[in-house]
Amino acid sequence: MPRIVHYPHPALRYPSVPVSRIDDAFRTLVRAMFDRMYEAQGIGLAANQVAIPRRFFVLNLTADPAQADQELVFINPTIVKRHGLVEEEEGCLSLPSLYGEVKRARKIRVQAYNLSGEAVEYDASDLFSRAIQHETDHLDGKLFIDSFDDQARKAAQEKIRAFETAYRQAQESGEIASDEDIKRQLDDLARD
Ligand code: CO
Repeated sequence: MPRIVHYPHPALRYPSVPVSRIDDAFRTLVRAMFDRMYEAQGIGLAANQVAIPRRFFVLNLTADPAQADQELVFINPTIVKRHGLVEEEEGCLSLPSLYGEVKRARKIRVQAYNLSGEAVEYDASDLFSRAIQHETDHLDGKLFIDSFDDQARKAAQEKIRAFETAYRQAQESGEIASDEDIKRQLDDLARD
């Protein structure tokens, strides 16, 4: 069962590579990601948040496992249109309990593949649009804190430092592998 990694785990900065096949192992991984996401009460989870450097993410805006018909899987997504600008508060399962305002396109058009390997296209607005942009950023190694303005960054600085300190301490105690070892593992997974 994959675990959600926290900032500043190197997987979160790793530029993910395209998904090349949808097989049983992939479907099992997707299911496990949904389960982890629900456990953490999230609405979206990108593969590199479970240290898999592949371009896909899962989404259920209801955060409710009973509403499985709302589950969406975006494989190799591309945002092809962006329109307008809107600022709203966001959070992220890789930086739990940290929130801040982020400017995003109000409406987007996204193209991707679903779990059946079919090409899909959505015109998204509101939370749907924001979640897709947040998760697609993950796949590019980008975090929502990168988009903070000076004021939001200042407000979050202490919590961000605390994440960094906790992470380095976990590495020193051997609970988490070194950055070099993790990067090697990510390179192997990206080649596979
Ligand atoms: Co996130």
